[in-house]
Amino acid sequence: MNEKQRKESSQIKQDTHANLDRLKKMDSDELIGKYFQSTYQPPNLKKAKKRLKKDVDIHYDFSIPEDMKGIGKDKKFLIRTYGCQMNEHDTEVMAGLLTDLGYQPAEDTSEADVILLNTCAIRENAENKVFGEIGHLKPLKMENPDLIIGVCGCMSQEESVVNRILKKHPFVDMIFGTHNIHRLPSLLKEAMFSKAMVVEVWSKEGDIIENLPKVRKGNIKAWVNIMYGCDKFCTYCIVPYTRGKERSRLPEDIIQEVRQLAAQGYQEVTLLGQNVNAYGKDLEFEYGLGDLMEEIRKIDIPRVRFTTSHPRDFDDRLIEVLAKGGNLLDHIHLPVQSGSSDVLRIMARRYTREDYLELVRKIREAMPNATLTTDIIVGFPNETDEQFEETMTLMKEVGFEAAYTFIYSPREGTPAARWEDNIPMEVKKERLQRLNALVNEQSKSAMEKYEGQVVKVLVEGESKKDPEVLSGYTERNKLVNFKASKSLIGKIVPVKITKAKTWSLDGELVEMTSGVY
Ligand code: SAH
Ligand code: SF4
Ligand code: F3S
Repeated sequence: MNEKQRKESSQIKQDTHANLDRLKKMDSDELIGKYFQSTYQPPNLKKAKKRLKKDVDIHYDFSIPEDMKGIGKDKKFLIRTYGCQMNEHDTEVMAGLLTDLGYQPAEDTSEADVILLNTCAIRENAENKVFGEIGHLKPLKMENPDLIIGVCGCMSQEESVVNRILKKHPFVDMIFGTHNIHRLPSLLKEAMFSKAMVVEVWSKEGDIIENLPKVRKGNIKAWVNIMYGCDKFCTYCIVPYTRGKERSRLPEDIIQEVRQLAAQGYQEVTLLGQNVNAYGKDLEFEYGLGDLMEEIRKIDIPRVRFTTSHPRDFDDRLIEVLAKGGNLLDHIHLPVQSGSSDVLRIMARRYTREDYLELVRKIREAMPNATLTTDIIVGFPNETDEQFEETMTLMKEVGFEAAYTFIYSPREGTPAARWEDNIPMEVKKERLQRLNALVNEQSKSAMEKYEGQVVKVLVEGESKKDPEVLSGYTERNKLVNFKASKSLIGKIVPVKITKAKTWSLDGELVEMTSGVY
């Protein structure tokens, strides 16, 4: 910071308390009028729905602006993450940007100079958690006006959320959207020197910015984005609005990233996208997820996973490549959402129960040992008891070994939110309980099959419950706990399963006599 900036900063510090008081007394329209640059545009879900024909530009020239370098010297940051794997990976990118600015990670909020809430909008309870946390941060800001509080991630893309923060939480310093992550350094600077809340949310999809810095969580497993956005517009889902249109990264950029991770010693990569099976559809040449996987299987990295698959776009080419095995693991997460073709139709999933079962048959034929897991929503508008029973029977028929199950939550701006949310909460809860009981039962019996078997475990670290115990995952994504030396962390080791529990396996290390593992 130069002398002029230091002066400005101290003036701002003095002004902040007065400013907060003034802001609290205004309503949001007044706030927008008085405190925002004329360029400020609230996010707009209708605009976000529009898909532009324009090609996506890919940028390889990102760098930290010269005047920002070092602004984080002797300062600390903390990012809280509320969403899916993509959201977690975005946190790694923001951590990378902040580290390049000179910031160090903070242990907790009390020692942080910058706190970012990387939010999720998928269900109402995800949003409530964030509003709760914003409330908790207020006393910290009052104590330390220099603290910068930022809200980013999917909730920032919603107009109602931005307005609520403006109105009820004016002490928040900045709000930025999912397409603006690379703008973090500039937005942070603006927030430091501006008396007003800095809001930058682009409703329409951004370009692809290739060379953003990342600080990955851990050095064993890594996330790799292969595409951004979603064009499926399932009627209940907010993601196509918060993440923009489908944009695929170029295969060579993905392959280069995976190669680098392999060279750095990572043992596992998970390829990420909201609908990875649509990978390549927007590229100018014929290329799909199967083709990408064919390339990635040649890279010397022990484990490759991908998530999330949409059944509609899961093609034969992908099945053929996955069946070759090697580092491509035969665990497939294939969200079905409902077992009733009628419900699937009004969810706009674009497949029927029969289509789904046919896809499962093909996958099993090619990969007889594949583990299938899924996502299910209960209590969708008008879901009858019979339709829910169809979900129960599908659960059994496919033999899913695990499932993430959710009560339907209306999301403003989506088509389903205009329909009456007419299933009473007790009925939704009862359906969820019954479904979860079945999921637990199926998980347990899948686990029991492993008793006495030797499995390969990628050791991730100490178990959360007992530091004496190590834990890690098998190729089919089963959590295994066993006692062994911590020197095995980061390695793939053989473990004999001694006991199956509902959600995990206990085992014993098998003495390694050869280099097979
Ligand atoms: N792209 C992935 C899912 C992303 S969201 C896919 O299509 O499979 C993760 C899960 O959250 C979804 O699979 C769905 O089961 C659930 N979900 C999404 N919107 C929801 C809503 N409005 N209410 C309840 N659950 C929802
Ligand atoms: Fe949402 Fe459907 Fe896209 Fe998944 S495929 S992110 S559920 S719209
Ligand atoms: Fe949530 Fe956004 Fe992911 S809504 S599930 S963080 S894409």
